[in-house]
Amino acid sequence: MRGIILAGGSGSRLYPITQAISKHLIPIYDKPMIYYPLSVLMLAGIREILIISTPEHINQYKKILGDGSRVGLKCFYKIQKEPNGLPDAFIVGKEFISGEDVALILGDNVFYGQGFTPVLREASLLKEGALIFGYYVNNPKEFGVVEFDKNTKVLSLEEKPSNPKSNYAIPGLYFFDEKVADLAMTLKPSLRGELEIIDLLKEYLKNDKLRVQILGRGFVWLDTGTYDGLLEASNFVGTIQKRQGLYIACIEEIAYMKGYITRKDVQNIAGTISNTAYGNYLEKISSDDSERI
Ligand code: TTP
Repeated sequence: MRGIILAGGSGSRLYPITQAISKHLIPIYDKPMIYYPLSVLMLAGIREILIISTPEHINQYKKILGDGSRVGLKCFYKIQKEPNGLPDAFIVGKEFISGEDVALILGDNVFYGQGFTPVLREASLLKEGALIFGYYVNNPKEFGVVEFDKNTKVLSLEEKPSNPKSNYAIPGLYFFDEKVADLAMTLKPSLRGELEIIDLLKEYLKNDKLRVQILGRGFVWLDTGTYDGLLEASNFVGTIQKRQGLYIACIEEIAYMKGYITRKDVQNIAGTISNTAYGNYLEKISSDDSERI
């Protein structure tokens, strides 16, 4: 399976900073926002990753992630000229997908919770249809919403409904089979002028090929597209990291745990940023063999 991080968009809710800086490079506590979705794809075992961003910002991502080899990945880059909507990722990325199954994650989504790695590993085995997640929220009117029955069979999908049929929002992480690029090409823009992910999911639902997996109440899903969202996510990450001394979304640690890079590689990276807490953390994890589950 391949992975796509959609890191374009206009970021208008974060003006004025996004007039000059790409949203997904703004720090969430101590690392750039894009590390969080990247770490999710890595935990799913996905190693070929396409980063899609705007013409203005794509080079900044190349600078920060390069060809991906530093963390055992292959990173590719594509420009999305206009924010034409989430399914546009599969049109822009058609060549990259080239007939493989694919996971799409939005560049401003943060996921965290016990048991997430096995969920991701299983999701990455998808061979047919599409898989989305459902997450109980207080304000479903602001999201894509999924309704399902007691066997979690999907009944309906709605985008920002005024009368939501459920409280379950659809987070920005989706797994699709290889048909997705062709299906995305058949979509028509909505009234707001974008291709809609809900319309793409409805194509799968129509053919009874859409599954939803519920992320329970102990799970954290945050989106960081507003100033409040940024602050809340930073506070959350800072709180957990200080309490446990274990990092969220440390891509070098994940690469090391997965055996993509060696202890020596981690130590070398740590050596280049030894004046930071992040560097000290890399130094610690590469010299400490105590059990962390
Ligand atoms: P949004 O939050 O819908 O949009 P945005 O990031 O442009 O922000 P704002 O609403 O403040 O103007 O996008 C969700 C994520 O998807 C975000 O990480 C940007 C990305 N995105 C693209 O890369 N291309 C697109 O065409 C769209 C619609 C979003």
